[in-house]
Amino acid sequence: MLTSSTEWQNLQGHFNAIESVHMKALFEQDSERFQRYSMTAAGITLDYSKNRITDETIELLAALAKATKVEEQRDRMFAGEEINVTEHRAVLHTALRNFSGKPVYVDGEDVMPQIEATREQMKTFVDAVSSGQKKGYSGKVFTDVVSIGIGGSFLGPKIMSEALKPYRQDNLNVHFVANVDGCHLRDVLAQLNPETTLVITSSKTLTTQETLRNTQSAKEWFLGSAMQADVKYNFVCVSTNIEAAETFGISKDNIFPMWDWVGGRYSVWSAIGLPLALAIGYDNYEAFLKGAYEQDCHFQEAPLTENMPVLMALLGVWYRNFHGAQSQVLLPYYHYLRGLPAYVQQLDMESNGKSVTLENEEVDYATGPIIWGSEGTNGQHSFHQLIHQSETPIPVDFMLPLHPDCDYADHHDMLAANCFGQSQALMEGQTQEQVIAAMTKAKCSTEEISNLSSHKVMKGNKPSNTLIFDRLDPKTLGSLIALYEQKVFVQGVVWQINSFDQWGVELGKVLGNKVLGTLQDSSVELTMDGSTNGLVALYRQRK
Ligand code: F6P
Repeated sequence: MLTSSTEWQNLQGHFNAIESVHMKALFEQDSERFQRYSMTAAGITLDYSKNRITDETIELLAALAKATKVEEQRDRMFAGEEINVTEHRAVLHTALRNFSGKPVYVDGEDVMPQIEATREQMKTFVDAVSSGQKKGYSGKVFTDVVSIGIGGSFLGPKIMSEALKPYRQDNLNVHFVANVDGCHLRDVLAQLNPETTLVITSSKTLTTQETLRNTQSAKEWFLGSAMQADVKYNFVCVSTNIEAAETFGISKDNIFPMWDWVGGRYSVWSAIGLPLALAIGYDNYEAFLKGAYEQDCHFQEAPLTENMPVLMALLGVWYRNFHGAQSQVLLPYYHYLRGLPAYVQQLDMESNGKSVTLENEEVDYATGPIIWGSEGTNGQHSFHQLIHQSETPIPVDFMLPLHPDCDYADHHDMLAANCFGQSQALMEGQTQEQVIAAMTKAKCSTEEISNLSSHKVMKGNKPSNTLIFDRLDPKTLGSLIALYEQKVFVQGVVWQINSFDQWGVELGKVLGNKVLGTLQDSSVELTMDGSTNGLVALYRQRK
């Protein structure tokens, strides 16, 4: 077991030795700490100096990474080996953004030609739609796109196009619908004209209940003004399930393939990214892929202790397994990046929310953390209180572009000051002596000081990373997303779990479908547990 390995035990011993060391003291002892614990790669600078680490911590964490064969597993992933063992699949989202000119083999076949052909198909399609050459069934140019998909077939294109708002093409509005809650679809369709609306169904399997229902309803809305034969002009599908797409009436030219070696949550790099490419134009989309490729090259080439995703992953392991952190908060100080916590939430929690190892053993250590967060500075007036003063350890990733794509320059100075000020406050905190001195200076009474001073103490020593980039252009965004993907990958390897399956969500899907049968047909006998039977009976009765 991992926890009985020498490397793990060494880290445990080291943790016991430095647990009470305050980061403030580490900064006081070392004026070069920022220079030593910061690095730049693929357009992103990482300051990890505000972490509860010393050189020894890094060495011991790197030894754990070596012992768990992070480098070997990384190379196996890039080489197209079947590392998703429970689904017998290779894991090759990296091939989708491979611009090395080198082949990538799956079962002896080079997959690069099909990837390049699909990129070409996307480019042609995007150019034709945005130039107005490709039109809707009545001959009018498209003004709107409705992208229907859920999970990985939704979050990537939606959040990336939100993040790249300054790069959006202004002749096309792209809308996203994921949930089967009809209110959303109705609200989106209500503002649109079927003649000028392109509907894209994105689903790796094309069996997902929400996506099928939403597509069917969108088709019914469309057929309110058009004919079945018109579907071929206004409907597009991205899927591995080409046959089902054709059965639906989608024309061959409008079907974009993907492959089983692309996981849903890693699929924004495939044709699932089509709505994003339509939103920002194909060249920007390709720049997004190239940013990820640059990060992949760094990940493959840099030694473990100078490797950004590896360092971020190991810091996460340090807090999760040795400091007992249950969650990781992401705080983008940039409005357009506000969706990133939700994106990384699926990426990380669906990948590493596991408790059985590749050797089929139950883990006796914590695996993937809870991921949450929102845009700064909003959280400062809300949940930051708990991060600052509760006993719960919550490592933070701050993110900030140096140049916002926005005219209000002094706003950005304030945003940046708050971002840096928060990490400083978390790290330094304030002692009771400091509080008393400040209150005395403010002429507070002795009674007030004695009543309040302990409440104002902030212990500090709360860890954070800060990620800085020039501007959030498509290339940098690609690099940032790949950084988190590779971080999650490394953690999965260290924890010896399969980061690429998602059996936990399958049972819910199966039971959801079964329950649906009982809601739609009230003659069906209720044979489920008492609570579910009760809820279904209540629904049937009161609906
Ligand atoms: O619900 C989980 C999931 O399996 C995700 O992994 C996936 O991205 C999503 O469902 C959608 O699946 P599909 O693309 O096949 O519709």
